[in-house]
Order: sequence, then structure tokens, then C-alpha cells
Amino acid sequence: MRETAELIERAIEARERAYAPYSGFMVGAALECSDGEVYTGCNIENAAYSPSNCAERTAIFKAVSEGRKDFRRIALVGGKKGEMVAPAPCGMCLQVMAEFCRADEFEVILARSTEEYEVKKLAELLPFRFSL
Ligand code: THU
Repeated sequence: MRETAELIERAIEARERAYAPYSGFMVGAALECSDGEVYTGCNIENAAYSPSNCAERTAIFKAVSEGRKDFRRIALVGGKKGEMVAPAPCGMCLQVMAEFCRADEFEVILARSTEEYEVKKLAELLPFRFSL
């Protein structure tokens, strides 16, 4: 497993590619697979608002579309220009994580920097998950 700081660094780099002209809130995600491979994502907004996609889902959909479904953890950073806060994933992204990850094992790293972060289990963030 790579260093947590290294994974957060990948999320910080991904945030640079955020397309967020409407909210100005830029998010980066770095999703680690069981073999250590990392898929990154950023939020991508749209003038019609609803078609916007969060950074977490960008990373997960990139990975799934490349044939991966074995995820260990995801690091997130976000904030407007010049600030960094630790964003909690929205409910839709948590439900997408629940589709592919074991909620009692998968870790969500909410980071403000490579040194300042909190680690939550998906089960803590989404205790009741919809499944069929
Ligand atoms: N956003 C994310 O990408 N991930 C989160 O965890 C929370 C919110 C995005 C959606 C939108 O583009 C912007 O941040 C403001 O809500």
C-alpha cells in the first residue's frame, strides 16, 4: 500500500484539472485499487448544472470503465481558489461507492493537505445503503 500522503498528492494534482466555472469549488479524488493502482478524478460542471459530475464519481467511473472494481480507499481534497477544505462526499457519490466497495472496509480520506486529514469508513458516512 502506498503512503497516504502520496495518494492525497495525487488528489491535489487531480484538483488542478477540475472544471468548476459555476461553483468555483474544485475537487480532486484519487482512488486506490487493491494492487495499488490509482485512478484520479475531478469535478466537471455544466451550464445546465444537473449534468455536473463529482470528482469521486469521475474517478470511480474511470476505474470501472477500465475493468476495475477492487477498491481500497479514496482520497479527496477540495476548495475554492486559494483555500483547501476536506470535503465530505455527497450522498450520490457515497451510494456509488457502496455499489463497488465493502462499506466496513473501504476508507474515505478527507484531506486538507498531505498532513491534515481524517479517515472514515464508508459505513460511517452512509450507514444505511440502498441495495437490491
Ligand atoms: N463536489 C465534488 O466533486 N465532490 C464532493 O465531494 C462534493 C461536491 C463538487 C460538485 C460541484 O461541482 C462542486 O463540488 C460544488 O458542489
